[in-house]
Amino acid sequence: MRILIINGPNLNLLGRREPGIYGTQTFEAYLGTLRQKYPDVVIDYFQSNHEGDIIDRIHEAGFGADICDGIILNAGAYTHTSIAIHDAIKAVPIPTIEVHISNVHTREEFRHHSFISPVAHGIVIGFGIDGYRLALEGLLKMLAR
Ligand code: DQA
Repeated sequence: MRILIINGPNLNLLGRREPGIYGTQTFEAYLGTLRQKYPDVVIDYFQSNHEGDIIDRIHEAGFGADICDGIILNAGAYTHTSIAIHDAIKAVPIPTIEVHISNVHTREEFRHHSFISPVAHGIVIGFGIDGYRLALEGLLKMLAR
């Protein structure tokens, strides 16, 4: 099984960015523990602050040289703005799970709408950084069905 985690803009700053909201752990450290916990799963990781690069990576995971079984996506602020990422998720024949570290629904109103949710196969919101593990477990179960 090969799963791709994609983090969008500003998520390269995890551990340093607004720690009261996003925690103090870097994603790289967290990813290490996740890979140790799931040694049989290949977990690819891609972070970008650029919308088009995220779209290209989704295409590669779905059709290209870097084919994966599923995607775990935290599109960051693009969640609330990007019809293009919505279309990319819809275009590929593999499931995407949407993740948000914070509970976006208890925050500013502009975070309440997601362009990703209508095309996501599952959504994990508000469990902190551990939401990626919850998403992975759900995605693996979904793929085993
Ligand atoms: C986020 C929530 C978004 O609203 C925000 O723009 C982010 C992170 C989260 O993981 O809680 O960058 O996706």
